[in-house]
Amino acid sequence: MTKEISGFSKLTKSQKIAWLTETYFQDATAATTLLTSYWNDDKKLQQLHDEFIENTITNYYLPLGVAPNFLINNRLYVIPMAIEESSVVAAASKAAKFWRTRGGFKTTILGTTKVGQVHFTYDGNKEDLRIFFNNIKPQLLEDAQPITINMEKRGGGIKEISLVDKTDSLDHYYQLHCTFETLDAMGANFINSCLEQFATTFKNGFYEETRFRESESQLNIIMSILSNYVPDCVVRAEVSCPVTDLTEKDIDGAAFAHKFAQAVAIAKHEPYRAVTHNKGIMNGIDAVILATGNDFRAVEAGVHAYAAKDGHYTSLTDAHIEDGIFTFSIEIPLALGTVGGLTKLHPLVKWSMELLQNPSAQELMQIVAVAGLAQNFGALKSLTTTGIQQGHMKMHLMNILNQLQATPEEKEKTIKHFKTNTVTHSAVVSFIEVLRS
Ligand code: MEV
Repeated sequence: MTKEISGFSKLTKSQKIAWLTETYFQDATAATTLLTSYWNDDKKLQQLHDEFIENTITNYYLPLGVAPNFLINNRLYVIPMAIEESSVVAAASKAAKFWRTRGGFKTTILGTTKVGQVHFTYDGNKEDLRIFFNNIKPQLLEDAQPITINMEKRGGGIKEISLVDKTDSLDHYYQLHCTFETLDAMGANFINSCLEQFATTFKNGFYEETRFRESESQLNIIMSILSNYVPDCVVRAEVSCPVTDLTEKDIDGAAFAHKFAQAVAIAKHEPYRAVTHNKGIMNGIDAVILATGNDFRAVEAGVHAYAAKDGHYTSLTDAHIEDGIFTFSIEIPLALGTVGGLTKLHPLVKWSMELLQNPSAQELMQIVAVAGLAQNFGALKSLTTTGIQQGHMKMHLMNILNQLQATPEEKEKTIKHFKTNTVTHSAVVSFIEVLRS
């Protein structure tokens, strides 16, 4: 039986942990995991983390790894990745090394526009609303000036506000559909502040109009919020080389390119495969997004919507062979920021940004897209040649050894043994049992 608690957020951190331990844990030492292992001794650093969210009780660690040798537009990068999945950083590093000697990655920004909407209902004459909108539009921009002034000085701001009639899909439903340029900021706060100001100006202006008062028409603001669907904030990354350059020891380049392109074609046509294919891409993307303090939930939502934009869910990457040249590419929407948010606050985010040579948001979009493409290349290369388990289980071996609480000597012997044997969970357990007997 669990207990309800009121005023939990007002308790101190120690009181919160004590209550949780008492209520949910058999063993009082459960608290030590929170208190001793993960709670940072550096008081200032701990306080910083405590204040990121409400009810912080400790820190949750993920490994931060790096994938070196990424040649992007002729510039070398070491890419930081925060992720728990064993094989992701290894696969990224391998793909980076592979393409480094084959021309590297080339990227292009296709757009940087973001979207926000004021959703409202209105039950009056449509033409009256259209006239009112056209009249009040300059006022919407003027009232938002205190919010936009600094962004405008840097070259960004509000790009367009339009009135959209959605009454065909939902009774009385309209929008102010607004587009923004937020430069190096992800822009959520900027966009939402602008939208809330538009909503206030719009509603006040509406009820000041005699014609709406006389007709007793009603305008109801439902909500004002940015959209995480950003099909015009898109980056393209690609790799390309003659198929003959894909030849390795036991792999024929032309045959490999053909099989690889078929694997992508399957993901283009088959949603069950497309979801897993894109999940592999997001392994790379989310890891860099986390390391650089960006919002991976926003990116995930926008990316999958983009993958379904033509009415069916499909692959985010493309591969083709033309005149003996293999080209593999990705086009992906990424609303990212390199200023604001956690970028200057979280010490590891700051470190990751510096490692990337303090990129602009556009540069970060390019780096992240490359990480996604590289990850997909690594996954498809394994899937269409050796299969995924060989590499995956090799990387997972250490997790199994840690689960079995293997000593350093046991680890060394096991790793040596499995260099030439297939890793499975039961094979590792048996091997350790033999070592211990
Ligand atoms: C595993 O995290 C990702 C893969 O399943 C991706 C793919 O199948 O393309 C290996």
